[in-house]
Amino acid sequence: MELQFKGRGIEIEQKVKEIRRHFHMYPELSHEEEQTAKEVQRHLKEAGIEFHTGFAGTGVLGVVKGEKPGRTVALRADMDALPIEEENETDYSSKRKGVMHACGHDAHTAMLLGTGLLLQKYKKDLAGTVLLVFQPAEEDAPIGGAKAMMEDGVFDQYKPDAIFAQHVWPDLPVGQIGVLPGPMMGNSDRVTIEIHGAGGHASMPHQTTDAIIVTNQVINALQTIISRNVDPLESAVITIGRIEGGSRYNVIADKVTIEGTVRTYKNEVKKRVKENLFKLVNGIAESMGATANIEYLDGYLATVNSQEWANEVKDVAQALIGNDATPHVNPSLGGEDFGRFLIHYPGAYYWLGTAIPSRDVQKPLHDPQFEIDESALSLGVEVMSQLAVNALEKLNEQHGGDQYVVSRKNKSSKRGANSSIDQMAEGIASNC
Ligand code: NI
Repeated sequence: MELQFKGRGIEIEQKVKEIRRHFHMYPELSHEEEQTAKEVQRHLKEAGIEFHTGFAGTGVLGVVKGEKPGRTVALRADMDALPIEEENETDYSSKRKGVMHACGHDAHTAMLLGTGLLLQKYKKDLAGTVLLVFQPAEEDAPIGGAKAMMEDGVFDQYKPDAIFAQHVWPDLPVGQIGVLPGPMMGNSDRVTIEIHGAGGHASMPHQTTDAIIVTNQVINALQTIISRNVDPLESAVITIGRIEGGSRYNVIADKVTIEGTVRTYKNEVKKRVKENLFKLVNGIAESMGATANIEYLDGYLATVNSQEWANEVKDVAQALIGNDATPHVNPSLGGEDFGRFLIHYPGAYYWLGTAIPSRDVQKPLHDPQFEIDESALSLGVEVMSQLAVNALEKLNEQHGGDQYVVSRKNKSSKRGANSSIDQMAEGIASNC
């Protein structure tokens, strides 16, 4: 009989909570997930789960092998934290100054470990292989860890037929899962603009080019790209999140730096916003006697779920939780590195409701007071475990149950010649 995980999250609940709290206390920034990765390996080893390392630095691949033959499904969690000073006061608040798990990746990693432990426990009835992908550097857009993991051969030995990931979501209550076919998360680009003027004495503006005044015009004008250049029925956001310039109250600044992000779904909208941004910034700077330096980094592409696997997530959530478990949701313009996996392997990304009932207003992801309702953890484990089992069953039916194992390729040969991933990404994103 097919494995059923309804109610089985409880078997692992306490452990997952402890693991999550440990990660929460000791957060590590992108590319620095050394201790987190070691802890992941320790738990895998303890459970007797095969694992491999050396993917994108700290990335880890766990391999749960079912005792029955079958296809391969991958589950992914991100491991990194953010440079944010935690403001919550709990027993397990961050012990590292200025670093915090403010995006719930501590919970993702703990739930994936819990899922692995649970699947390993029932491997006798598991038909196929489940890959546990622990990814570094999700927050380091546009570099990320997904692409580097694939270039380092994370799927060379075991190639997934489908891949899934979940993200804690403060806008949904515990017991609800947000999922959509098509784009779930948007294109996420990063831009740095330097405005160079000419400094001088505050009382003699005519002898200067005030970089602060020029920047002021630039920031205001940037929002007109959204309101005047983008079709009002399409989605786009420009946010300037950082500004730096000037030295003293009576000195006219010669240089100002601003940093921000551009979010869109469709590539044609992104292209238009990007082009207009360059035109506008350069035009304003020139007209005011300044110069502009623009560094535009094309970041994460939209995270696009396949219809088939998004529906599978929905079916699993409804079977486990109930018919109301998957409310209608709108996609988010947040960026997500998981989209890069979805370019190569079909699958789905979904949100796990973690709203805190005692809070009238939920703190968003990346907020210094962000927190999750931990009662969602065991549910997240159940959904992931069931999803892996159901996906395997579906794949085994489609493919007759033969195990698909490809031989390990030469790792080093793929590094550097990686533009194909971006080219493919470009192609997919322009279709959505
Ligand atoms: Ni995140």
